[in-house]
Amino acid sequence: CRRSIEARGVFRVALSGGSTPRRIHSLLCLRPLRDEIGWDRVELFWGDERSVPPDDPESNYRMARETLLDEIGIDEARVHRMPAEREDLVAAARDYQDEIARSFGARGEGRPPRFDLILLGMGEDGHTASLFPGTDALAERKRWVVANEVPQLETSRMTLTYPLINAARDVVFVVTGDAKAEMLARVIEGPGEIESLPCRGVQPEEGGLRYLVDAAAATRLSGRLSSRPSSGDAQPIGDEPVT
Ligand code: 6PG
Repeated sequence: CRRSIEARGVFRVALSGGSTPRRIHSLLCLRPLRDEIGWDRVELFWGDERSVPPDDPESNYRMARETLLDEIGIDEARVHRMPAEREDLVAAARDYQDEIARSFGARGEGRPPRFDLILLGMGEDGHTASLFPGTDALAERKRWVVANEVPQLETSRMTLTYPLINAARDVVFVVTGDAKAEMLARVIEGPGEIESLPCRGVQPEEGGLRYLVDAAAATRLSGRLSSRPSSGDAQPIGDEPVT
């Protein structure tokens, strides 16, 4: 965030959904970290959203509002919620792509703009954002945001696509808990195709890729990755290429 604001005067980040980010959000609300972030230069987006209203318990936006936005009091004009509750999810995804383009002062098509950071989670089935195994969005190579039918959940969701995710300056997966250990090892160390392990489709073209994991989620890794003992407080993320 600090580097982006120094370089470009803005930090554009896409938050992830699910439950893991709750802990991240609560840490970001604590001083001194909270005061180190130039919140008045932060533009918040989402990586995906369920097709529910913003006050629904399932809403990723609602989770962020409760755990971060209400606490920080960020200007609503810089909170770009995915309108995934709309009946026409395809049109809603198109509008969200236009909203992203406006934030970057870019055309709403063609080469994707570069988010400063995209935060991602990992499902136990290897999905990320709402890029689920065997779903159409995995094949999207032009649009930045799509409506994605997820038969295994009997629902449709709005999600960022690989073209936009892989254009980012930094992508960070946050994965915790022993239930994810097996899948994390498959995602990071393979083998496995993107169709069945969508997380493996996240390969930033020029940006950084980090996996921030806890010990429980890391138990099945071969140990080749660099690890940094957590000292409990937030570790400053350096510039070194991160595994
Ligand atoms: C969502 C997410 C999804 C999430 C993973 C992990 O809308 O559910 O964006 O991709 O990151 O499912 O979820 P947990 O953090 O709850 O394990």
